[in-house]
Amino acid sequence: MAESLADTQVLEPTDAGIAQAVEVLSRGGLLGLPTETVYGLAADAEDDRAVRKIFEAKGRPADQPLIVHVLPAWANRYAARWSSTAAVLAGAFWPGPFTMVVPKSEIVPQSVTGGLPSVGLRSPDHPVAVEVLRRFGRGVAAPSANRYGHVSPTTVRHVLDDLDGRIDAVLDAGSSEVGVESTIVELDENGSIRLLRRGAITVEQIVAVTEVPVVDCTSGPVRAPGMVLTHYAPAAPVEILTDAELQDRLTALDSSVLVVSCGPVAHRRSVVFEDDRAFAAGLYDALRRGDDQEVSLVIVAPPTRGELAPAIMDRLTRAAHRG
Ligand code: TXA
Ligand code: MG
Repeated sequence: MAESLADTQVLEPTDAGIAQAVEVLSRGGLLGLPTETVYGLAADAEDDRAVRKIFEAKGRPADQPLIVHVLPAWANRYAARWSSTAAVLAGAFWPGPFTMVVPKSEIVPQSVTGGLPSVGLRSPDHPVAVEVLRRFGRGVAAPSANRYGHVSPTTVRHVLDDLDGRIDAVLDAGSSEVGVESTIVELDENGSIRLLRRGAITVEQIVAVTEVPVVDCTSGPVRAPGMVLTHYAPAAPVEILTDAELQDRLTALDSSVLVVSCGPVAHRRSVVFEDDRAFAAGLYDALRRGDDQEVSLVIVAPPTRGELAPAIMDRLTRAAHRG
């Protein structure tokens, strides 16, 4: 049974608010932490009991590993080996929306990695997250701060909609800028790089700095534990259309259908974004409107161009998948 907390405290990202947030982590509690990708649900990465509470609060299966958030200089504390490729990648993309799966050190509890010998490390690029880490002095394990299988949170409202009363506190730093979770790569012994999840850092960028080919492991058999096919799903079903298909369907849609698109659309209930970046930043908020009882269906016509288009399509495919 997840222990039910009376109230989840919403903390301002002031000196005092951050001090309270660090205090929550120090006593083994759960903290909603803003990052540039999505809000995380953070606990002391070295405290097995605290980490277990994350799984309870989310309703997440225990075999799905968590990402440890660090300052760049701490990588060696949590990684058993830090290859030259890891160093090059960290130099290029940290802090940022980029996670590396590397052999784990002794200090990382099994609960963080779901029993795997490897750990995912990420250095977030968000002033509030960085300040929390700096003052806390150690890494925090943090998955996205949503109920298991639901849409990831990009605002404090989203975090509270899913986890109010189940976590101790959340730091409010407005909307997450990137809006989709980090790119994840796994580095193996012989220096090869496997892409486990698409995000804002693209394959082209990774190849450009490492000159190592990237093996795409994002589709086919489930490569990264937790990369399940159904995820990011609001209450209403989600359907993906091309712009042309959307135009054909428009006149037949009633107003209970929410349309999310990357170009102007003549429909009463719609969310329109300017480009792939804005689309990614607003995508989860738009999908969460599909939890509204008045919405019967969410139709999305995603951007086909831009660096974030592949990550957007990946999340949408999972949101649209049923069963
Ligand atoms: O942007 C992000 O990465 C956000 C923010 C909060 O940092 N976090 C996030 O965490 O998306 P989460 O739990 O929703 O996704 C973590 C995923 C796991 O589902 C798994 O696919 C992968 O990271 N992962 C973590 N550790 C791994 C490992 N040792 N081996 C393979 N995959 C791993
Ligand atoms: Mg997640």
